[in-house]
Amino acid sequence: LSTTELDISAIQPGQSIKASFRKQPLFVRNLTPQEIAKANAVPVSELRDPQTLAQRTKEGKENWLVTLGVCTHLGCVPLGAGEGENKGPFGGYFCPCHGSAYDTAGRIRSGPAPSNLAVPEYEFISDTVIRVG
Ligand code: FES
Repeated sequence: LSTTELDISAIQPGQSIKASFRKQPLFVRNLTPQEIAKANAVPVSELRDPQTLAQRTKEGKENWLVTLGVCTHLGCVPLGAGEGENKGPFGGYFCPCHGSAYDTAGRIRSGPAPSNLAVPEYEFISDTVIRVG
């Protein structure tokens, strides 16, 4: 299966970009310290799909949230990646199809989606380039 290399150096804190990986939308987000704090303040036991931000990011790079841009309900592309888009009530991503709202760690917080936005296999091959897949 193919891999995708992405230069993430231009993604500013607070910005999320939409790329593609194996023909699916891929979101790469540079979390602000406030967004990280917000994610870490949530009691994991209250989550539908319990995961910490640390479990969803790479050690020492917890500001980089890499997820598929595919709602886990019925597969729409959530909003929130791109300037001025609706990040929803939990500040992450919002799926307009049936109203699933994801938080700043891409975790499902309300609406019908059963699970968090998927984190694909990826690695940092330098400080500014990731290889997905
Ligand atoms: Fe996203 Fe239904 S596909 S809420």
